[in-house]
Amino acid sequence: MKHFITLNDLPNFQKALDLAKSLKESPYSHEDIGKRKTLGLLFFNPSLRTRLSTQKAAQQLGFSTMVMNFSNEAWALEFEDGTQMRGIRSEHIREAAAVVSQYCDMVAIRAFASLTNKKQDEAEIVLKSFAKYAKIPVINMESATGHPLQALADAVTLEEHKKKYRPKVVLTWTPHPKALPHAVANSFTQMMSFQEADYVIANPKGYDLDKNITKNIPVLHNQSEAIQNADFVYAKNWCSYQQYGQILRTDEKWMLTKEKMSLTKNAKFMHCLPIRRNIVASDSVLDNSNSLVIEQANNRTFAAQAVLKILLDHA
Ligand code: CP
Repeated sequence: MKHFITLNDLPNFQKALDLAKSLKESPYSHEDIGKRKTLGLLFFNPSLRTRLSTQKAAQQLGFSTMVMNFSNEAWALEFEDGTQMRGIRSEHIREAAAVVSQYCDMVAIRAFASLTNKKQDEAEIVLKSFAKYAKIPVINMESATGHPLQALADAVTLEEHKKKYRPKVVLTWTPHPKALPHAVANSFTQMMSFQEADYVIANPKGYDLDKNITKNIPVLHNQSEAIQNADFVYAKNWCSYQQYGQILRTDEKWMLTKEKMSLTKNAKFMHCLPIRRNIVASDSVLDNSNSLVIEQANNRTFAAQAVLKILLDHA
């Protein structure tokens, strides 16, 4: 594996999942493999979990880490080739990526979707330009279209809590006052293609995800119907994909409540965090013992640790 941009970059998904689980059992079992190596973490957007869990993962493998908030600390980057750089962008990605490659042995990058230009977002300019011009492995810490570290962690959480071979797992759209990207929903859906499960997506009309990602997965426009007998309910907001970046509704009808969860088979509740209480899900859902959100965040460390180890193993 040269880079970790999507889950499909993993040489073997099941082996990565097993490795993450074994690292959770024994986090320091490979504590020297990153010795005298440096992981750079570049953030174009805010983070709590990804920033801390990826650093912790690196440290548990012996890496040193360097963190930089590109949005307010670094020179603004130019990604276009052949341009005369008269504007506010002071540094070209060609130099920036080459320079970072001298200080770091791997670089992890967070660069969200703009949600204003679908074509540009889908081109993943930031991540793919780093992958093109850096001489070191690039790790996706949430890009415009995917959040594979979250999805791998969610796979660990599902595995830990599933009580039958083929559980019913529902990804449901929930309301949110801001336009949010599709990255988490996309990667969760890609991850579910590796799972034995009855996987269903629920979202209001106008919110269907990219059909290249959902493929033949059932998409229901009635949340109550979708979550009937579910074993896991994963809540997430995303903006409209068809009317790209738009918020089409903010009403509470799709918020997850205790009453809604009673339609399920005592389902576990999942969300990647951060979550807006009493908008995405009610306090009664989040504070219920069936909520796995804190464990999901915990599993981020071991998912990141597995990815770092696989990249080292394939260096
Ligand atoms: N779930 C997740 O990626 O959290 P952060 O945005 O806080 O990193």
